[in-house]
Amino acid sequence: MILLDGKKASAIVQETIAKEVSSIKKQGKRPPHLVAILVGKNGASVTYVNNKVTACERVGFNSSIIELPENVTQDELLKKIKELNEDNNIDGFIVQLPLPKHINEQEVLLSINPDKDADGFHPTNFGRMALGLESFIPATPYGILELLTQYQIPTEGKNVVVIGRSDIVGKPISILLSQKPWNATVTLTHSRTHNLTDYTKKADIIIAAIGIPNFLKAEMIKDGVVIIDVGITRVEDSSSKKGFRIVGDVDFENVKEKTSHITPVPGGVGPMTIAMLLKNTLNAYIRNQKR
Ligand code: GUN
Repeated sequence: MILLDGKKASAIVQETIAKEVSSIKKQGKRPPHLVAILVGKNGASVTYVNNKVTACERVGFNSSIIELPENVTQDELLKKIKELNEDNNIDGFIVQLPLPKHINEQEVLLSINPDKDADGFHPTNFGRMALGLESFIPATPYGILELLTQYQIPTEGKNVVVIGRSDIVGKPISILLSQKPWNATVTLTHSRTHNLTDYTKKADIIIAAIGIPNFLKAEMIKDGVVIIDVGITRVEDSSSKKGFRIVGDVDFENVKEKTSHITPVPGGVGPMTIAMLLKNTLNAYIRNQKR
């Protein structure tokens, strides 16, 4: 079994980005600037946003967090987004999800300038991605593709089973892997799929993104499968300093020996997501400079 080390693979991507930023700065230009909008104080969201900003600083980007209260109105949030859309010194920005229930997430995502949509969540970018046109690719699917590439895992003609149909991971990774140059045969399964094991048992590659801790069990897979675990659920753990630990969608301890490659949680897909958000920001900067 080979562990797919997301920390290592992410560091490789970040080193390349850092070199490009250094060359940009040497030319006397300002570096790329990413802004994250954080609404409320959801513990996981605060951690993710802080990790993103820290990563920006590590590669030499400018970055900032706009913190808005949990009870911010949708209009106030849309006003802030309009300001960022129009600010030439901001190359890309993200609105950390989930948003409070009183805010319509789709309306918010629709209001983002697609050229600054570093998360690739705007329908324009999703549509362009689905058509194989140049677009921002959502960071988690993009990170999975980068991990498969770095470890030279073949996808052409392979049976890929994706578990979970979220707009952020399941749907886009299914579309991407079915396209050129990946050329996989993709089955998108979800919580209503009948006899899921019939699919997972035949899979050469499984992407688990259903958000249920330890969901994928050893008896559901064949020997030699490649497993990408996208799950990052916080589970109470009084023995941990933080009071919780992060658990993936895969029953890692019982599954790992049957696999040819598997991502750990944490340290697998998570760090890749951050690296690819930086890559999207650098691309947004390059576009912005051309305008
Ligand atoms: N919430 C969970 N994952 C993500 C992500 O990749 N981007 C944003 N904006 N919110 C998220």
